[in-house]
Amino acid sequence: MAKVQPLPNEVRGLNRTLEVGVRHLRTKDLLGMQELSPEEIQLILDTAFVMKQILSVQTKKTAHLQGKSIIHFFAENSTRTRLSFESAGKYLGATSSNISKTGSSINKGENLYDMAKTLDMMSTDILVMRHPESGAARYLSEKISASVVNAGDGMNEHPTQALLDMMTMVEYKGHLKGLKVVIAGDAMHSRVMRSNVWGLSKMGAEVRVAGPPTLIPRFLDRMPCTVYHDVRKACEDVDVVMGLRVQFEREHKVLFPSVNEYAKFFGIDDECLRRAKEDAIIMHPGPCNRGVEMPSHIHEHDRSVIHEQVANGVSVRMAVLFLLNARRNLQA
Ligand code: CP
Repeated sequence: MAKVQPLPNEVRGLNRTLEVGVRHLRTKDLLGMQELSPEEIQLILDTAFVMKQILSVQTKKTAHLQGKSIIHFFAENSTRTRLSFESAGKYLGATSSNISKTGSSINKGENLYDMAKTLDMMSTDILVMRHPESGAARYLSEKISASVVNAGDGMNEHPTQALLDMMTMVEYKGHLKGLKVVIAGDAMHSRVMRSNVWGLSKMGAEVRVAGPPTLIPRFLDRMPCTVYHDVRKACEDVDVVMGLRVQFEREHKVLFPSVNEYAKFFGIDDECLRRAKEDAIIMHPGPCNRGVEMPSHIHEHDRSVIHEQVANGVSVRMAVLFLLNARRNLQA
């Protein structure tokens, strides 16, 4: 896809677009897609597309968050989310620091509340956090005055991943309403699946979740999606084929006979692509177990937008930080 290359004066115009009549999110935190309204999702996506244009010029730095402090607390591993949040904050002019479990006083027994309160007392404006416990981000959001951004909490939600997925779909399909999206793989452990089901359904897409019965949670009956156990059948006539990582690190018992059998019966293969629309795009939130969720030739297929998803992560996270800061400025 050809990228727009705005001139420096266009970037000044884009920055003014962000400043004039600036809008914001309803709440001080971004905890999940379940809480966002369709209007808020649209606002984040529109802002992310402006951010993407700003990022396409040589001098990417802006001053929208100058003087603001962001702390990234990652109690679980991350490459894409952590680095893109760090870059996003820097491009917006914020001061940022990192804290992880290892090397912090959590390893000396300090609890989550005391750690967060300590950060709060250091005039932190935004806390971006990833934690293995579902609900950890919500818990802290109610205890501290900094805005909390959920960068993944246990098996609950990963809202900025869903937002960057939706941005990528809009980029390639032009809209979300009416899109048929299949999300295939380890739904049981996937916060990405939950956030995408909430977000996409609110925007009018039809969502199918496919995988082996042992990896399909029962609560999907109460979510706005259709469950399939036959991944190839689920791919029939879809616009988007999204693979989910098998989260071996979260599985405490054997949930399928072998990796080879999983790949053969539940992986995304050429037959899936034959059944999908001929211009269907291939997505994966990453990191990908190549040869398990999909073989390398599908990961690198000319209809794969997996690398573009990573690129859009920075724009979406800039948009989220910008809109939360706008909300904070209202209160100041
Ligand atoms: N998709 C995603 O959250 O990737 P990371 O774990 O690398 O951040």
